[in-house]
Amino acid sequence: MFYETAKNDHGLPRDPFKAIVVPRPIGWLTSISAKGEINLAPYSFFNAVSEEPPMVMFSSGGRKDTISFIEETKEFVCNFANFALREAVSKTGMELPRGVNEMIEAGLEPVPSRLVRPPRVAASPCALECRLLQIVDLRDLDGATSQRYVVFGQVVGVYIDDRFIKDGRLDTAAMQPIARCGYNDYAVVDKVFPMARPRLARNFPKPEAAE
Ligand SMILES: Cc1cc2nc3c(=O)[nH]c(=O)nc-3n(C[C@H](O)[C@H](O)[C@H](O)COP(=O)(O)O)c2cc1C
Repeated sequence: MFYETAKNDHGLPRDPFKAIVVPRPIGWLTSISAKGEINLAPYSFFNAVSEEPPMVMFSSGGRKDTISFIEETKEFVCNFANFALREAVSKTGMELPRGVNEMIEAGLEPVPSRLVRPPRVAASPCALECRLLQIVDLRDLDGATSQRYVVFGQVVGVYIDDRFIKDGRLDTAAMQPIARCGYNDYAVVDKVFPMARPRLARNFPKPEAAE
């Protein structure tokens, strides 16, 4: 099948787009308002976008509490969710009134971060402490705002639960991270396989140095 997104003529009961771009890692974001209110919410339009320096991004559909709080205090924490935390992730995705602390609602224990003000989720196997870089108002092909805002942050501190470090490496499968698929589906990573990057079989000529 093929469909044009402008027409959305896929003929399916639900738009399959989010079931195609899978699995999406979940940034489970803690933020704090200027008044000190704490917020926790999952964002699956989330990813790492740079290793050196480490940078992450997430996209907010509208101006939700997370983005408002980050605009106010310029910091956030990406907690990582695993299979054991799946129900809590779902609970914190509920649209609650501004100022309601989803951490408390979901029965999660906060732990102070080292370098930023928003706390991390104690039970999360990893957390990235981030400072705001920029917020991009995404425009569509007609130049109109899509009411989607992409937040970029630089990671300034990294927490890892030592239980998941084995032989000097982070044991991803043991962490059992969860990720978002389409519809109401999630995926869990409980198995990984190694594949070495192939070496060049022959020498290619070096490209001419740019003038
Ligand atoms: C697994 C999961 C992933 C989500 N991903 C996003 C996302 O990428 N962008 C978004 O705007 N909302 C996303 N949502 C919905 C928000 O989490 C929800 O609107 C939440 O109430 C926002 O909280 P806030 O207003 O406290 O920031 C997601 C929800 C769930 C459960």
